[in-house]
Amino acid sequence: MTHNTTPGAATERYARVIEVSKRVRWEIERDVFRGRRLDYSKTFLPSGLSLVGELGFMSAPDKRLLSQVQGRTYAYIFGLVERFIAAKALDLGRAHAFGDQTALQAIVRMSDEEIRHQEMFRRLEATMAADMPAGYVQTADPDAVAQVVLSKSDWAVIALTLDIELFTQAHYRASIEPDGNLSELWKDVFLFHWKEEAHHATLDELELAREDAKLTKAARDAAVGDLIDLVVAVDGILQAQARADADYFVAIVGTPFTGAQREQIADTVLKAYRWQYIVSGVMEPRFQKNLFALVDEEQAARIHNALAPLTYAVPRQPEVPLPLAACHPLHGHPAPPAGRDATS
Ligand SMILES: [Fe+2]
Ligand SMILES: [Fe+2]
Repeated sequence: MTHNTTPGAATERYARVIEVSKRVRWEIERDVFRGRRLDYSKTFLPSGLSLVGELGFMSAPDKRLLSQVQGRTYAYIFGLVERFIAAKALDLGRAHAFGDQTALQAIVRMSDEEIRHQEMFRRLEATMAADMPAGYVQTADPDAVAQVVLSKSDWAVIALTLDIELFTQAHYRASIEPDGNLSELWKDVFLFHWKEEAHHATLDELELAREDAKLTKAARDAAVGDLIDLVVAVDGILQAQARADADYFVAIVGTPFTGAQREQIADTVLKAYRWQYIVSGVMEPRFQKNLFALVDEEQAARIHNALAPLTYAVPRQPEVPLPLAACHPLHGHPAPPAGRDATS
C-alpha cells in the first residue's frame, strides 16, 4: 500500500474523514434543490462524458437532448450502485463495532451519506419523470443488483467501490465543474454529491488494505476472479441501459435518423457508459496504485485482459507498466487528473 496503515495511522485517517464529513455535510432541499427545477434549455451530462461530440451528423439541440437522457441515467446508475455500497458499508462498520470506534463512526457516517445520496437521486429522477416524455426505462433493479454484488468477496466489492468513488471525483473535477453551460440544478446535485464522495475513497483504501491483509494467495486469486465477474456484470447492465436509452432518445427526439445513424447512436451511448462507469475509474492513477500494489503479475494480467475489450482496442503497449493508462478513449484529450482529497 502507498499509505501507512498501522493501526494508529489508520485511526488518524479515519478521524480526518470524520472531520471532513462533518464540515461538508448538506441537506437535499435546503442546500441542493432550493425549490428549483431542471433547465431543459441547457446540457445535463457534459460532452466529455456523454461523447455526443462524436455524433457529427446530429444537431446541437439533439445532442443536448441526448445529454439529458444520459444525465438522467447518470443519476439512476449512481442510485443503483449506492444501494450495494451503503449495504457493504454497514457490514464493514459492524466489523469495527468492538474495535476502533473512530473507524466505526467514519463508516457509519459514510453509510448515512450514501443513503441520503440515493434519496437525492430518487428526487432528481422524480423531477425528470415529471418533465420528460414517457417511455424512459430503468433496466436493472438496485436490490437485485446489490444481492449479486454482495455475494462476492469483500475485497472485490471494496475494489469496485474504490473505482466508483474515484471516477465520481474525476468526472466532477475534469468535466462537470468546468462546464458553464449545464443546468444549474443538475450541476449542483453532482457538486454536492462530489463534496461527500471525496472522503469515501479514503475509507475504501483503508478497508481494502484491511481486507487484503486477511487473504492468502489462493483467496486473493479468487477475489480477483470476483472483481472480474463484477466488472462483467456491470458491463451487462450498461449494455442493456445503453440500448434502452438509445431507443428512448430515438423515440422522443423527433428527428428521422437512418438505420445506420440509429446504430451509431446506440454504439456511442454504450461507449460513453463504459467510459463513464468502468474505464474512467480504472484509469485513475490512484486506483491503479492501490489495486496493482496488492496483486501479483499473473493476477494483474487477468485484470488487464478482462478490461481490454472495454477500452476500445487501443493497442497494448508492453513497455508501459500499467497498460490501461494508454487506453484513454478520447484521443487528443488529457486523461482526468489523479484522484486527490483532503484526507489522503
Ligand atoms: Fe454517493
Ligand atoms: Fe460514496
